[in-house]
Amino acid sequence: MHIITSIRDIQGHIKKLKENHATIGFVPTMGALHEGHLSLVREAKRKNDTVVVSIFVNALQFGENEDFSHYPRTFENDCKLLSQEGVDMVFHPDAAKMYSKGFCTSVIPGHLENALCGKSRPGHFRGVAVVVLKLFNIVKPDIAYFGQKDFQQTVIIKRVVSDLNVDVIIKILPTMRDQNGLALSSRNAYLSEVEKKDALCLYKALTKAQSMVQAGIQNTENIVQEMEKIIHTTKSATIDYISIVSPETLEEVPMAHSGDVAALAVRIGKTRLIDNVILLFS
Ligand code: PAF
Repeated sequence: MHIITSIRDIQGHIKKLKENHATIGFVPTMGALHEGHLSLVREAKRKNDTVVVSIFVNALQFGENEDFSHYPRTFENDCKLLSQEGVDMVFHPDAAKMYSKGFCTSVIPGHLENALCGKSRPGHFRGVAVVVLKLFNIVKPDIAYFGQKDFQQTVIIKRVVSDLNVDVIIKILPTMRDQNGLALSSRNAYLSEVEKKDALCLYKALTKAQSMVQAGIQNTENIVQEMEKIIHTTKSATIDYISIVSPETLEEVPMAHSGDVAALAVRIGKTRLIDNVILLFS
């Protein structure tokens, strides 16, 4: 497995692969890898000749009071896991190379950045959009893989790719959960054992939403109220938002329809967690 830090070097490798008509599967990450990331890597392996994984903690997508400085960085272990999965290249650029002196370009994902997480994380999705676009331009993947847990991110990336005619296929794979239903996330590393149990309230609330629509209840105000009740039973939990939205526009819907998405962000103690489910009518 090649570990490459230089943009020029990886571009050289990619050029050769393209000359040999090898397909490239790409998994962008910020490291602190877990089974959710590895599920993306495995799918990329199944469908492509070469797999590239990037590990880059992107300062541009963190707000001033957010966790950039203590975001978990586990590079050696990440590389061990990726090598076991048979990944061909890890791209681990340094921030000064990604954002060289004078960098001033933004990618603004229009109204989509103001919904859901965008309300309490202003600027976050601009940071995501710009780094993902840069990574796509460097790695030139045929297919790029993302997890559904970051639902708003996936909607924005698909939109940016479509609006700017980026030549890449975006694949979204299901959220990976632990045996109790907690969505896997690098930020789970911040949770104590007690908080991990408390954090199950997110999945319980989403499961409630799913069962309500399956019982024929479509009024989203009622569904959200029931979800709130579940979160409020957990003392350490504070709701940032609970919304039921259309999957393309991210606008809240008054009546849920099959394919709409129930999404929430909840703080457990100091840790902000997100999760979502696609509501399916039986
Ligand atoms: O989902 C993430 O880990 C990040 O937002 C991404 C897509 C790697 C961009 O930094």
